[in-house]
Amino acid sequence: MSRVALVTGGSRGIGEAISKALQAAGCTVAATYAGNDEAAAKFTEETGIKTYKWNVGDYEESKAGIAQVEADLGPIDIVVANAGITRDAPFHKMTPEQWQQVIDTNLTGVFNTVHPVWPGMRERKFGRVIVISSVNGQKGQFAQVNYAATKAGDIGIVRSLAQEGARAGITANAVCPGYIATEMVMAVPEKVRESIIAGIPAGRLGEPEEIARCVAFLASDDAGFINGSTISANGAQFFG
Ligand SMILES: NC(=O)c1ccc[n+]([C@@H]2O[C@H](COP(=O)([O-])OP(=O)(O)OC[C@H]3O[C@@H](n4cnc5c(N)ncnc54)[C@H](OP(=O)(O)O)[C@@H]3O)[C@@H](O)[C@H]2O)c1
Repeated sequence: MSRVALVTGGSRGIGEAISKALQAAGCTVAATYAGNDEAAAKFTEETGIKTYKWNVGDYEESKAGIAQVEADLGPIDIVVANAGITRDAPFHKMTPEQWQQVIDTNLTGVFNTVHPVWPGMRERKFGRVIVISSVNGQKGQFAQVNYAATKAGDIGIVRSLAQEGARAGITANAVCPGYIATEMVMAVPEKVRESIIAGIPAGRLGEPEEIARCVAFLASDDAGFINGSTISANGAQFFG
């Protein structure tokens, strides 16, 4: 059956691989982004997947954007809350702005993305909610108090949504990637990246497609009894 899937931050990085994997699985996909028009245009040209621009941190923008996606493509069956940012600093140097930006995008952004589609999923008795958390939400990380708080929050969100949605045919799960070779990770200084890789038993960064395959499985009809879980894909860096 052809399903409609929404992927936030779906035009670049891990989100791009997720959008493509869901398209390959037969879904009609809508991918959102925040401001990089050039990357979004290139992505649409390559894949034929429609892109939409809104800030996931803003509830009204998210609600209006989701209404537009549903008007264009039909009711959303699968929602992947993937958009995320980092604003790293050791705690004693972290500013309230750095704290708030990450909370707004990574945590409130999940509420803003899932809340508008939830009533329709309940009505239609089917839904797949997948939130992209992180290994650093499971184990914590130096200079990421803000980021780790949001990614640990994702796990609380899916465990709670799972209990609310189970009788309505809705599953909610998190995927916790380890370090994946996207712009987010390639932006850190090379020396830091080398020390990160030295701490990964697999001896390498993960590929975005390795996360996308987890998401495509959780989104499938076959995964209907997996609910409130986390899938860790981190090269044995952490057993969460
Ligand atoms: N990379 C890793 O190693 C890693 C590890 C664990 C977890 N994760 C998580 O995986 C997710 C994707 O990470 P990534 O590395 O693929 O990131 P990325 O390459 O930086 O891409 C981020 C995507 O999110 C969008 N975005 C950012 N802020 C947004 C906002 N306020 N509203 C709407 N869209 C927004 C970006 O849009 P624009 O293109 O317009 O900027 C872009 O499409 C994030 O949640 C991240 O925390 C990543």
